[in-house]
Amino acid sequence: MVKNSMLKIGVIGYGYWGPNVVRNFTNAGGAIVAAVSDINPNSLARVRSMHPSVEVTQNPDDILLSPEIDAVAIVTPPLLHFPMAKKALENGKHVFVEKPFTCSTAEAEQLIEIADRKHLQIMVDHTFLFTGAVRKIRELIDNDTLGTLYYYDSTRVNLGMFQNDTNVVWDLAPHDLSIMDYLIRRAPEAVVNCACSCCGAGPEAAGGGVRAVTALGSSPTAGTRALEPLRAALPVRGVAPGVSRGGPAAATVLPVRLTVD
Ligand SMILES: NC(=O)c1ccc[n+]([C@@H]2O[C@H](COP(=O)([O-])OP(=O)(O)OC[C@H]3O[C@@H](n4cnc5c(N)ncnc54)[C@H](O)[C@@H]3O)[C@@H](O)[C@H]2O)c1
Repeated sequence: MVKNSMLKIGVIGYGYWGPNVVRNFTNAGGAIVAAVSDINPNSLARVRSMHPSVEVTQNPDDILLSPEIDAVAIVTPPLLHFPMAKKALENGKHVFVEKPFTCSTAEAEQLIEIADRKHLQIMVDHTFLFTGAVRKIRELIDNDTLGTLYYYDSTRVNLGMFQNDTNVVWDLAPHDLSIMDYLIRRAPEAVVNCACSCCGAGPEAAGGGVRAVTALGSSPTAGTRALEPLRAALPVRGVAPGVSRGGPAAATVLPVRLTVD
């Protein structure tokens, strides 16, 4: 592919995770990282030393509004995902956005609607779907090595960096929910959330030993109450705060448990 036909990517946010995104786009065929933006000058100094040919700027609008940029990767704290992705889409750019996609279901739906209307791609970086282990599990399911799935249990023990602008379920559950969605490929029937706090101000305090329990099934009939974090991470039809509602006959339900320890 000749260079001027390559997709030109602008990356916003070069903190802990941004360097991985820049490195992967740099190594991917068909795309070049044209510019990186970060409000922190130290981050931009790191870009200059690792990628001397990449333009750097402290102003994200230099990327979001640039006619030279085809696609924007948003690797900032979650609160900025929605406004930046919206601006990028409105300026005709494809968007790659880090998990968690947005901070509410309504925001997520709005971005999808704009992308559809403008025939642009929007993708959330569900990293684990590209790992060998998860792909192998799906292969074992697809070729029936595992037989019928009766139960799925997922425990997240490596919490990584504590994020200050989002709760632990919102920050980390998308990893497990995206894997479940990829492996099970059945629409969630209902979500039951049980949470407690081991430290911090409440069940949503980061690091607070939150437990989320979900039950996914296949019936299209279900309640509609929303439990925002889980619903935004996965298109859930019915959500209940304490017990599964409506729902299919027991035999059609595949119980799923997710624990954030
Ligand atoms: N896919 C994964 O496995 C994975 C792993 C880690 C983090 N993440 C996600 O990546 C995102 C970033 O996380 P992180 O750990 O790198 O956070 P971080 O705080 O280390 O980095 C965020 C960067 O954004 C910059 N920034 C903040 N406001 C900005 C603005 N207005 N314009 C430009 N830059 C701005 C900050 O200066 C910082 O360098 C989060 O959404 C996080 O959940 C994903």
